[in-house]
Amino acid sequence: MSERESDVNPLLQGNFAPWRMEGTADDLEVIGEIPRDLNGTFYRNGPNPAYEPAGRYHWFDGDGMIHAISIRDGRASYRNRYVMNDGLKEERAAGKAIYPGLLGMKPSEMPAFKTTSNTNIVYHAGKLLALVESSLPTAMQPCTLETIGPYDFGGKLMGAMTAHPKLDPETGEMLFFGYAPFPPYLQYYAADQSGALVRHEVIDVEWPSMMHDFAVTKDYVVFILCPVVFSFEEIARSGSIFAWKPELGTRIGVMPRTGGNADVRWFSTDSCYVFHPMNAYVEDDELVLDVARYDQLLFMNPKAARDPGWRDKNVARLHRWRLNLKDGGVKSVPLDDRDGEFPRVDERLVGRKHRFGYMAATGTEGNGSALPVWSAVHKYDLQRGTSEARQYGPGNGCGEPLFVPRRPDAAEDDGYVLVLHYDQARNASEFDVLDARNIAGEALARIRIPHRIPYGFHGNWVDAA
Ligand SMILES: [Fe+2]
Repeated sequence: MSERESDVNPLLQGNFAPWRMEGTADDLEVIGEIPRDLNGTFYRNGPNPAYEPAGRYHWFDGDGMIHAISIRDGRASYRNRYVMNDGLKEERAAGKAIYPGLLGMKPSEMPAFKTTSNTNIVYHAGKLLALVESSLPTAMQPCTLETIGPYDFGGKLMGAMTAHPKLDPETGEMLFFGYAPFPPYLQYYAADQSGALVRHEVIDVEWPSMMHDFAVTKDYVVFILCPVVFSFEEIARSGSIFAWKPELGTRIGVMPRTGGNADVRWFSTDSCYVFHPMNAYVEDDELVLDVARYDQLLFMNPKAARDPGWRDKNVARLHRWRLNLKDGGVKSVPLDDRDGEFPRVDERLVGRKHRFGYMAATGTEGNGSALPVWSAVHKYDLQRGTSEARQYGPGNGCGEPLFVPRRPDAAEDDGYVLVLHYDQARNASEFDVLDARNIAGEALARIRIPHRIPYGFHGNWVDAA
């Protein structure tokens, strides 16, 4: 009998293993008390392969599953559904996996991508969109989580959309980009607050890069062009569709939001990779850009998932770039020597000066895994240069921490930090509501999910209407 991928790939085991049941659960058990001013839904997306993979599996390959935790008047309920795109429907009809993953590309063939929509889920202009950076968004029904289908902004979006659009807190616009292995490599878009796609710019870049996320300020758009380059030669060489080419360095493009391709100004810095900026803002003559920065990124190497030293070589740390808009210089300032990922700020300050930031991080006792697991949450006070940490302990991985203000006009850290984490002892997940001003203290509420939710990627909070 041939080797099953799930028997040998740790990214299909433990709390990375898929949870394939879809359902609902009302009146979840709560330890503590859910604050009465927290009403809405936390949506989280992540990879959850519906079938045993046909070949080698990468964590980014799994079918998207949306987990929704709804909170109203101190009570919580849970619902989860697959994002049911055409590729998964085909596989449902066949009763098995059909599509290869990122590590199953053949150099002689055009890549066959399945739209997994597994990375993020955002709500804008009445639409709930499940996102993956290789495809169009997929619209979802916000209450039932039924899949509505691909969403192309009324025929105006022709290609892929990043999984990390930015919602401008003042204008209500949704700003985003799409990248591709073929020209045009990078395109920028803006949807107005009604959801109409009103801007489209083709941006010239020096190489086709895996550009996962970007940043905006009140007046600028910031593209981070890292030396992770699409390469068909690399597929033949190592099986990866991306090559790490540190000799290229990293280029940061700053475009006025009112401008276009001709107005992009490029800044140069050391080679690195950034999946996620924390935020960006302009102060005096400088554009301040806080990111989770990797010295290198070899994660696409098929051997990486089985290399026990993988994690040490490929970790991100909070880092600040100061781009001088007058003289073109870049100051590079490490902000922490501990590693962390999934940086977030108060969504009301996207593009504006933030004082506080939140990240998932390695715990003081380690994560209990060589895999991409984080077992602590860090809150940074970037004004004072201090941080606080909440430890979940090895084996109890936690996801992206998300700040929700107590009221729309509450101060920057006056509110809650929401953390979905795995409780290894119960083999189930828990959703913590933390006091943002005391994240290390006892959780205000620990909401017990009736089963485990596999480790995933990104989530967002949508206030109750
Ligand atoms: Fe991401």
